[in-house]
Amino acid sequence: MPRQKITIHDIQKAKEDQRKLVMITAYDYPFGLMADEAEVDIVLVGDSLGMVVMGLQGTVAVSMDNMVHHIQAVMRGCKTCLVVGDMPFMSYNTSIREAITNAGRLMKEGGCDVVKLEGGVYFAPTVEAIVKAGIPVQGHIGLTPQTASALGGFKMQGKDATAAKQIIDDAKALEQAGAFSIILEAVPAPLGKLVAESVRVPVIGIGAGPDVDGQVLVTHDMVGLFDRFVPKFVKQYTKIRPIILDALKAYKQEVSEAKFPAAEHSFKMPEETLAQLKKMIS
Ligand code: KIV
Repeated sequence: MPRQKITIHDIQKAKEDQRKLVMITAYDYPFGLMADEAEVDIVLVGDSLGMVVMGLQGTVAVSMDNMVHHIQAVMRGCKTCLVVGDMPFMSYNTSIREAITNAGRLMKEGGCDVVKLEGGVYFAPTVEAIVKAGIPVQGHIGLTPQTASALGGFKMQGKDATAAKQIIDDAKALEQAGAFSIILEAVPAPLGKLVAESVRVPVIGIGAGPDVDGQVLVTHDMVGLFDRFVPKFVKQYTKIRPIILDALKAYKQEVSEAKFPAAEHSFKMPEETLAQLKKMIS
């Protein structure tokens, strides 16, 4: 039987059933299609696309238009995963009204099922307002890449007891505000466990250790397509960049040596048509 569309209720039930959730990122049609075929639970069209697709240094410059464009492409391939549209920097930070408008735009124009935004206690009222407007929200706490410079770079968070307690408070505030799940990034594994135990909604970790309710990775990191660095918490399940690079180099060589295209890649023309044509142009 073909898989049914995953809903936020399925995501929340997974925690009750102690089933680990599987989440990855996608930014275009082919990866959306493959995420569906691999039957992952959640696909995030993350603003990480700024780095891994657009070649930017971070996620800050990613725009609403960029997000809508990529969400639309993923939605054409991804039919059964729950698709999360990431709210880019400054699309929810200036006012609650603007946050609701932009969350609505990601759903209405992009077509995603839910949205995600970064921040804890401080953004809980924003999360609550978006949820009340009828848009499910996934929170994102710990290392929040959009504000990495304010956090001192892409570094592990929750190092001392006070900072760790703040992250637990952030998770509780998001749950209270109505977030249906929470991404927890780059914290010590024991803190990951404590956060997951502190809330009833699923906590999906990225560099938060094994004792959370699920895992998310940036696909381009996990398949070895991003060239700049590999974060400590990433496992590379394959390395497709050298495979693609070899193919490009082989193509270059064969074109240069006139070995490609061969007869099997070329369209034929009947001899008499060719003779006629040559007569016409001579
Ligand atoms: O944008 C993104 O890919 C993310 C993940 C790191 C969770 O937010």
